[in-house]
Amino acid sequence: MWRSLFGLLLLCPLAAIIRAENICRSIEVRKLSDFDQLRNCSLVVGHVSIANLQLPGNVNLTQLQTNVTEITDYLLIYHTTGLLTAEYIFPKLRLIRGRELLFNQYSFVVYENRNLRELGLLQLLRIQNGKIRIENNPTLCYVDTIDWVYLLGNSTTQHFSIRGNRSPNHCPLCNGLDADYDYLHKNMAYCWRILAPQLKLTRPKVEGCPASCGRFGCDVNGTCCDHNCLTGCSSQNCTLCGNYQRNGRCVNQCIASYELNKRLCIGSKECQQLNLIPLAQGLRCVDQCPKNHKPIIDANGGKQCDLECRGLYHVKRIEDLKPLRDCVSIQGSLIIELVDIKEPIVKALEQALGNIKEITGYLKVIHSTPLMSLTFLSNLDTIRGDELIETKYALYVVNNYHLEHIWPTNRQVAIQHGTIFFHLNPRLCYEKILNLQPALKSLKTEISVADVSPNSNGERMICGEDVSTLDPQIQDINATAVSIVLDFVKYEYVGNLIGYTYHYMEAPKRNITMYDGRHGCGHDNWLMDVSIGKNRRHMISNLKPYTQYAYFVKSMSPWDYHRQMEAYSKIQYFRTLPSKPSPPRRLYGISEIHTQIMVHWWPPQRPNGNITKYIIDYELHNLTSEENKTKSYGMEKPLFINDPPNCECNDQEPYYSGPQPEVEKYFNKTQTTYEEALPNLIYVSRRRPPVKQDKFEKVVDFTDLISGRPMSQVVENPTTTTTTTTTTTEAPSSANVTKPREVTAELYEIFRLQVEERTRNIQDMDQEKFRILHDPPKCHSSDVSVANQLEQKCVVEEEIKGFVVPGNQQYYNMTNLLQNQYYRIYVRACVDGVVNGCSNPAILTVRTISAETFREIY
Ligand SMILES: *[C@@H]1O[C@H](CO)[C@@H](O)[C@H](O)[C@H]1NC(C)=O
Ligand SMILES: *[C@@H]1O[C@H](CO)[C@@H](O)[C@H](O)[C@H]1NC(C)=O
Ligand SMILES: *[C@@H]1O[C@H](CO)[C@@H](O)[C@H](O)[C@H]1NC(C)=O
Ligand SMILES: *[C@@H]1O[C@H](CO)[C@@H](O)[C@H](O)[C@H]1NC(C)=O
Ligand SMILES: *[C@@H]1O[C@H](CO)[C@@H](O)[C@H](O)[C@H]1NC(C)=O
Ligand SMILES: *[C@@H]1O[C@H](CO)[C@@H](O)[C@H](O)[C@H]1NC(C)=O
Ligand SMILES: *[C@@H]1O[C@H](CO)[C@@H](O)[C@H](O)[C@H]1NC(C)=O
Ligand SMILES: *[C@@H]1O[C@H](CO)[C@@H](O)[C@H](O)[C@H]1NC(C)=O
Ligand SMILES: *[C@@H]1O[C@H](CO)[C@@H](O)[C@H](O)[C@H]1NC(C)=O
Ligand SMILES: *[C@@H]1O[C@H](CO)[C@@H](O)[C@H](O)[C@H]1NC(C)=O
Ligand SMILES: *[C@@H]1O[C@H](CO)[C@@H](O)[C@H](O)[C@H]1NC(C)=O
Repeated sequence: MWRSLFGLLLLCPLAAIIRAENICRSIEVRKLSDFDQLRNCSLVVGHVSIANLQLPGNVNLTQLQTNVTEITDYLLIYHTTGLLTAEYIFPKLRLIRGRELLFNQYSFVVYENRNLRELGLLQLLRIQNGKIRIENNPTLCYVDTIDWVYLLGNSTTQHFSIRGNRSPNHCPLCNGLDADYDYLHKNMAYCWRILAPQLKLTRPKVEGCPASCGRFGCDVNGTCCDHNCLTGCSSQNCTLCGNYQRNGRCVNQCIASYELNKRLCIGSKECQQLNLIPLAQGLRCVDQCPKNHKPIIDANGGKQCDLECRGLYHVKRIEDLKPLRDCVSIQGSLIIELVDIKEPIVKALEQALGNIKEITGYLKVIHSTPLMSLTFLSNLDTIRGDELIETKYALYVVNNYHLEHIWPTNRQVAIQHGTIFFHLNPRLCYEKILNLQPALKSLKTEISVADVSPNSNGERMICGEDVSTLDPQIQDINATAVSIVLDFVKYEYVGNLIGYTYHYMEAPKRNITMYDGRHGCGHDNWLMDVSIGKNRRHMISNLKPYTQYAYFVKSMSPWDYHRQMEAYSKIQYFRTLPSKPSPPRRLYGISEIHTQIMVHWWPPQRPNGNITKYIIDYELHNLTSEENKTKSYGMEKPLFINDPPNCECNDQEPYYSGPQPEVEKYFNKTQTTYEEALPNLIYVSRRRPPVKQDKFEKVVDFTDLISGRPMSQVVENPTTTTTTTTTTTEAPSSANVTKPREVTAELYEIFRLQVEERTRNIQDMDQEKFRILHDPPKCHSSDVSVANQLEQKCVVEEEIKGFVVPGNQQYYNMTNLLQNQYYRIYVRACVDGVVNGCSNPAILTVRTISAETFREIY
């Protein structure tokens, strides 16, 4: 009796608190009526996103008002029109916790809001976690008047980015227009809007505190202040905790208790008394069992959830992983068949399947192009094989185009019953599969070729150690193309060379690795050019200007030869040259003073180099009657001109290019190369038993050496030892072959040099085709005639008139204008190191307001 009463007493305040709060889940506000959901919430467990909201001009502002005091995840305000301040919506918001972040980074984002003038979050005390980004709100003031560092909970890991808003020079001051300088600095250094100082609680005292308290200080009794407490320094008296609250005290995390609403820690009893369920996984107090749990009633009549991973799990997409979360043992089988090659699923697999130790049935991995390894099963020990595929296979791996590795290094997964089946994994070396043999506990014999094919596995990979290297050099480069040249291939190898593949990707940093952590389908963004033939030169074009790329080269040869012939280069880097940028974007002008127009813009979409300056020019403009009809200019309706037509675009989307297995053309290409090589292939494999492929034989028929006939004719004779130096695939002729005669080493040497030269020539054909074009240089003098320019192969640098601002400034205030006039404004971006490196202008027409309008406003 006493105990339960005691318990009740303890619980009452909590239950009361929880009842009194109106708790809501994440809310997406897109239209006015969506505010209905938000209005009554005091606490949002989740995020609030206000995006693409268009407020009508006559909106009743009390309709927007909400009671929200806390948001546990993030707040996003994006692409709104007609919203002048967030103060209407969040007059009571005190805390953004940032538990889950937007794009895993941001907890507060205000981006591209046309009419937003103030943030106005007057009560906001803390943004506990995550970054802040307030960008490209052309009319937003009072951003630089906020002490963001004060708002950040942990300034060592949080950052704020404030850009492209209204210039503070063109914003009113905290104290209004006629601010008294002294007063301003004494009393209102920080504000959310005119006459609304930023709310700050008094900093705790630091003197006389134990050193362990650090910058958080202590209370009068010398007890360290809990830095999670936002409402004053006394750990016993904190009504608003930044992290978690446990029995009225602030704590950093829930220890031996359950998390409720991402902000409270409560015991399991308390959780059950709130009619909720304490969940052991992640120690959360939830209202429903997760998908892979079933609800049970425990001995005391309380609800619990029991983890249950039973059945056949078929994973095709990320969402299919939900029921597998936290599973340690799968009572059943797992099929992985990743059908959507664009979904970045590998990380999700690691998270969801990383705990699994045992699968009682089978594991089947099929048609999963994104997979490069099965290492996401990082804790798997056993596949029991209680249930088998075709009554035989416990591990079944078929048609995984990019699969290169199986288990994590140093991990053997025991397969208790059944055997393995591996086919059509062109990048998985046969040897790696054979290494699984010791793990097959019930298999008495060797793995059979019918179950694991040495042909369809690893055929596109460099397997074994006997790999030679290529050493590519950058021969020349311009803004969009690079010419690469390789060393000559020795003549005895040329015959088996089908061509080269050039792999390249944008690499801002020089930290690219060829195989690490790759998503098979181009989420690692490698692009590929195939160069069929023996030419050692290649040009990669359609590159982006002023961009660093990583590249490597790989040779292609018939699969039978891959041990000897596959050669690849190390990863190397190059940077394309700069070129003319595209015009500035989002040019936007407004006249609030009758003699001035303020112009803002965004940097070009394709800077193509280091933007060092912008040039602004303007002229009075007579509106044609047609323009007058269709457009309206001036400050009442700011006009967003469409971005001007852009440069020729070199945006190859990696998803849509490069060696996608489903791209038919790519397969057709390789198909032809294999066909080309076929005569060689068949001939050679008949002559040479596959076991003896380790060494390359350099056997030459001396008879024909002397006669100087093409080598291909020699190959015909079945009694001669084969040569693989044939450079052509023409049909063998039935030439008579005379008996070998004695040859001197000298003659042999002469012939060798001849052949060598021939193979060199073959590798160096069409040099002209690989020449990089360069723009002509700047003429020495600026008054050279067109004819002379052509003759001297130079260009004159055009002079562009206008006002110059530095490349990091994206606004310009035009002054001394006439009132009530249209002005046509031209803005160009200019890069360094390019002759005539200024973009075409972005153009905008804006009208200055009249002097009367100006006086009315101010
Ligand atoms: C907001 O909360 C107050 C009490 O804090 C309450 O009186 C009021 O009705 C609430 N408003 C709405 C719209 O829920
Ligand atoms: C705005 O709406 C509130 C209730 O939603 C109402 O009380 C108020 O009168 C309205 N104001 C105007 C100006 O319509
Ligand atoms: C700040 O973040 C770091 C890293 O997450 C953490 O170790 C540290 O305890 C945090 N400090 C505070 C005051 O929250
Ligand atoms: C300081 O200590 C005194 C005596 O122990 C106690 O009564 C008082 O509540 C304490 N004050 C705070 C702020 O903890
Ligand atoms: C608790 O905080 C409130 C407001 O910050 C204050 O008025 C009160 O005196 C504090 N109580 C103690 C015991 O510190
Ligand atoms: C390279 O470094 C950058 C920045 O340090 C990082 O964002 C990127 O993930 C790295 N890339 C690889 C492939 O390691
Ligand atoms: C771009 O130009 C500016 C000014 O000329 C210079 O300070 C900066 O270092 C340059 N940046 C790069 C990446 O070259
Ligand atoms: C605009 O029109 C007026 C009268 O039609 C003319 O005098 C003026 O020169 C024109 N200005 C421009 C820039 O064309
Ligand atoms: C443009 O339209 C306004 C009213 O719509 C009119 O007063 C003005 O004369 C027109 N100007 C021209 C150049 O057509
Ligand atoms: C690829 O080859 C098939 C038949 O072999 C043909 O039908 C198809 O058009 C080819 N595709 C391309 C892109 O060449
Ligand atoms: C770079 O060189 C290639 C090949 O000569 C040419 O097609 C391309 O137009 C050149 N790019 C530029 C920007 O000059």
